Amino acid sequence: MGGENISPRLNRRALLGAALVAGAGAVSVGGFLFAENGIGPARLTARRVVDGLQAANGFVPGYRRNHAKGIAVAGRFDSTGAGAELSAASVFRPGTYPLSGRFSLAGGKPFATDTAAARRGFGLRIALAAGEEWRLALLNIPVFTDASAQDFHDRTAAYAPDPSTGKPDPARVRDYVAAHPKTAAALEVIEQHPATASFATSTFHGLNAFECVDANGRRTPVRWRLEPETVDVTAASGDNQLFTSLARDIRRGPVRWKLIAVVGIRGTDPTDDPTVAWPADRRRIDLGTIVVTEIATETAANVRDVNFDPLVLPNGLAPSDDPVLQARSAAYAESYRRRAGETAVRQPLRAEELA
Ligand code: HEM
Repeated sequence: MGGENISPRLNRRALLGAALVAGAGAVSVGGFLFAENGIGPARLTARRVVDGLQAANGFVPGYRRNHAKGIAVAGRFDSTGAGAELSAASVFRPGTYPLSGRFSLAGGKPFATDTAAARRGFGLRIALAAGEEWRLALLNIPVFTDASAQDFHDRTAAYAPDPSTGKPDPARVRDYVAAHPKTAAALEVIEQHPATASFATSTFHGLNAFECVDANGRRTPVRWRLEPETVDVTAASGDNQLFTSLARDIRRGPVRWKLIAVVGIRGTDPTDDPTVAWPADRRRIDLGTIVVTEIATETAANVRDVNFDPLVLPNGLAPSDDPVLQARSAAYAESYRRRAGETAVRQPLRAEELA
């Protein structure tokens, strides 16, 4: 995964190539099948997961099949150097590294109405020397709702709006949660951490575990957290209230988050299940500060053609044994492959209009 630093255009082509190669045969990674089998019992594939997102959200060509509503940002990561204790990654040497990013609302509707409680995401691409990159995609919830790609897929279907009401069917949701105790437990934890009313005051969580690898090959499990430094935000209202408030905050001055590595204890803290929180007293390493300085409409020149694939990692970072990571990577590539070949019918959210 390391060593991938390609322009958006090349990146798009490389991913299309990867999708085509995957299409040539069925490859199972982490129990998740990359391509259709054609025979035997129905197995979950990236294609079926993305079909499920389209069925639940409606199909809008040209946009991400999840986190469709979003805006581009740019800034830098000021690294403290403290991460070097755990990982040989160049990003943990003291210094400043440029980043591009994308704030988004969860869900596949590019023109959804913002609400103060909306679940939201932050994708980051940190550019490193020698062609390396570190990509992350985080959410403002403390644990993930699903322990596997199958659960993600089934929950997407269970929560899909009922055509007659435009809202999820409460009985179907209740039955789903009752049959998925891990999701039920995660939802309880999530309820105890209500969303803040703005992007700038949101804590973002990497949720899936990763491995830090040092120069001697010693591995340490970690989870990432972005903790906001902003306390005072500019209130906004209307259909784009979250994005308007973000635009006003960034135009007023840089918006910052501390990037923290929460250090897991091997054998005690689960690395393969993002629905389970690690104990609150785990050691935390202050890796540095994410500083967001610019905001712009998504275009080909910034993050429209970026896939915030969580498996694009520099040397010194590695995936954990969490099968959700492999599933995400395959589903993001499938979503990317589809949208790269489409023309959007409407302009995305326009930064210029968020005044
Ligand atoms: C099996 C579980 C998951 C599936 C199938 C899934 C699927 C997707 C898909 C299809 C996209 C659109 C990708 C694109 O077109 O570029 C997406 C975007 C995103 N996902 Fe996930 N996701 C999963 C879990 C997660 C988790 C655990 C997190 C956070 C830790 C997360 C955070 C995000 C974010 C922030 C974006 C938006 C990135 C951007 O702005 O491009 N997802 N997801």
